[in-house]
Amino acid sequence: MAMDFIIPRTHATELLSSKVVSNANFSRKEENLPIDIKENLAITKCSGETQANLASVITHYVETLNQYSLRNLGYPTNQNFNYDTLASLLHFHLNNAGDPFLGSSFSLNSTRFEVCVLDWFANLWEIEKNKYWGYVTTGGTEGNLHGILVGREQLPDGILYTSQDSHYSIFKIARMYRMQCMKVSTLVSGEINCVDLKALLLAHKDKPAIINLNIGTTMKGGVDDLDLVIQTLQECGFTRDRFYIHCDGALFGMMLPFVEQAPRITFEKPIGSVAISGHKFLGCPIPCGIVITRLRYINALSRDVEYIGSRDVTITGSRCGHAPIFLWYAIKRKGLIGLQNEVRKCIMNAHYLQSRLRNAGIGAMLNRFSSTVVFKRPLDEEFTRRWNLACKGNIAHVVVMQHVTIEMLDSFVAEFLQKRSIWFEDEQFQHVCIAKDIGSGNCGCSMHTIQCHD
Ligand SMILES: Cc1ncc(COP(=O)(O)O)c(C=O)c1O
Repeated sequence: MAMDFIIPRTHATELLSSKVVSNANFSRKEENLPIDIKENLAITKCSGETQANLASVITHYVETLNQYSLRNLGYPTNQNFNYDTLASLLHFHLNNAGDPFLGSSFSLNSTRFEVCVLDWFANLWEIEKNKYWGYVTTGGTEGNLHGILVGREQLPDGILYTSQDSHYSIFKIARMYRMQCMKVSTLVSGEINCVDLKALLLAHKDKPAIINLNIGTTMKGGVDDLDLVIQTLQECGFTRDRFYIHCDGALFGMMLPFVEQAPRITFEKPIGSVAISGHKFLGCPIPCGIVITRLRYINALSRDVEYIGSRDVTITGSRCGHAPIFLWYAIKRKGLIGLQNEVRKCIMNAHYLQSRLRNAGIGAMLNRFSSTVVFKRPLDEEFTRRWNLACKGNIAHVVVMQHVTIEMLDSFVAEFLQKRSIWFEDEQFQHVCIAKDIGSGNCGCSMHTIQCHD
């Protein structure tokens, strides 16, 4: 029997309108893969592939990944984990659709693990068990989507205030929810400028304020000053019922509680929600995250759904049942002491990198309590890609995570120095001053001297 009628003839790109495709600023990346691998990846045959052939494609891919992870410096994903004990879970589809505290009629779920993970975070951020609600999300972005939605449901005509250094998800959320959004300027550290915040709040006193607070900005790891923001709100006459604070703690929300003298993120202060990414500091092979909010806010979002025998109160419907088990396993395995040691090591290694760069005459900034080292954007895209550096404007950063060793940092610095001697032949590179991004004492361009602050 001819099978043509179930085999689509269209290529995926043809499904997009030509306008969308041609509007893209980024050209499609052609992977530099050997031709036989490219052919093996393409899904072209009508008949099924043999398991042996598929296994060989995957083996090759794993080899490539191993190479990449040796130089994975720019993005805050902890690659140092081993979940072999959980391998047998891949024989099950686990789905936590619905409210984790109510379970659902789909019995292959991991909500028991999920609630244990949530209880642990509630304790970390100091909110009583019977006063909080939360769930395991697909990542920091979904946690932000949920936290800001809760804020908007509490204060429907609220204006969203967030700093210009916020993650792009925040501005996307403002667009998605059609919320008025005020972009607040930042200090050199990346933290929100409360003088500017105050001026904006005073100019819009008639509307409630929904504040997105950065507990570690994406590029510089700047931590917004929660106490100062609360004080600013009070000084502008915003009473507790006229503001909502969502804390975006993607990476640092998980690190700060383990750093002595770091500001405390706690529900003992008037915050409404906290979100983190689970795959960042904790390390998880799949993107995931956590959002915690106050239980009393949740009824406004909930709808009973008979089909799943639960309450619909999350952003997505089906939810990954494996992620809560990975998170549970990571936290159980490491314990508070293990986590604290990992945070210390990352920050120590970040100081090591900053000193190595500065001693070599390369300006570099490292905020207090942070493991994100910021420096001038390399001139060479190939070098940036080789070390997986994240760049924005004139700056780039390394986020020192658990898999980043001293040896990796040494070989990065050695290669960076070698490349810089080539780039320095380009006058323009020498004269790019990044004092406004990282401060004149950190800059190290021809006009500024790196100041020693040890
Ligand atoms: C401050 C901040 N918020 C949110 C996110 C988004 O997190 P995710 O990638 O887990 O959605 C990031 C990611 O880098 C981030 O740095």
